[in-house]
Amino acid sequence: MDVFEAIKSRRSIRKYKPDPVSDDDLQKVLEAAHWAPSWANTQCWRFIVVRSPEIKQKVAGTLNRVQIGDDFLKNAATEAIRQAPVLIVACAQTGIAGYNRDGTPVTDKDDWLLFDVALAVQNLTLAACALGMGTVIVGAFDAKKAAEILDVPDGCAVVTMTPLGYPDHTGQIPPRKALGDIVYKDTFGKS
Ligand SMILES: Cc1cc2nc3c(=O)[nH]c(=O)nc-3n(C[C@H](O)[C@H](O)[C@H](O)COP(=O)(O)O)c2cc1C
Repeated sequence: MDVFEAIKSRRSIRKYKPDPVSDDDLQKVLEAAHWAPSWANTQCWRFIVVRSPEIKQKVAGTLNRVQIGDDFLKNAATEAIRQAPVLIVACAQTGIAGYNRDGTPVTDKDDWLLFDVALAVQNLTLAACALGMGTVIVGAFDAKKAAEILDVPDGCAVVTMTPLGYPDHTGQIPPRKALGDIVYKDTFGKS
């Protein structure tokens, strides 16, 4: 599968078959993640591969309800974390990406860890898609509770997580805004 096909066909998958993920395929998606670019090549990311059903169950319990319309509903990825054979939790060392050696921020955005982790996780999701596997990036969860469950040390933040496994459905294609609505010419807002 070429990169354009992977980008277009990747969908958020929230139902998984119980089929196991081989160590070889797991290695491939983790390698894709670690080839991502990062701030001054600092590679602040760390990945926890969870296969333990008990730990997956506990982590699934940290997901927050999300507002859909007027209602607050259970996070749609909760069952996916329980079902999928693997859960990958992406953490990051804080205070590294976006900082000078003396700890001063280089930009007005302080810590760039979210950006670096996002790049690595996107590589991971595309590689998983190319191997016929599904993922869904999860952001709505209690990161402090997840850190406790996973023994994540101080100085390292839990950023996001994704189940990894074989899809048990074809993901719906959520529409995207027209390119003309989000791309400007020369200055912001000029189409
Ligand atoms: C930063 C981020 C956080 C997300 N958090 C959640 C989440 O907590 N639960 C969930 O079910 N999906 C979550 N998603 C998945 C989005 O809902 C999904 O990517 C979007 O609807 C587009 O669908 P697609 O991924 O199939 O193209 C998240 C995606 C991103 C990028």
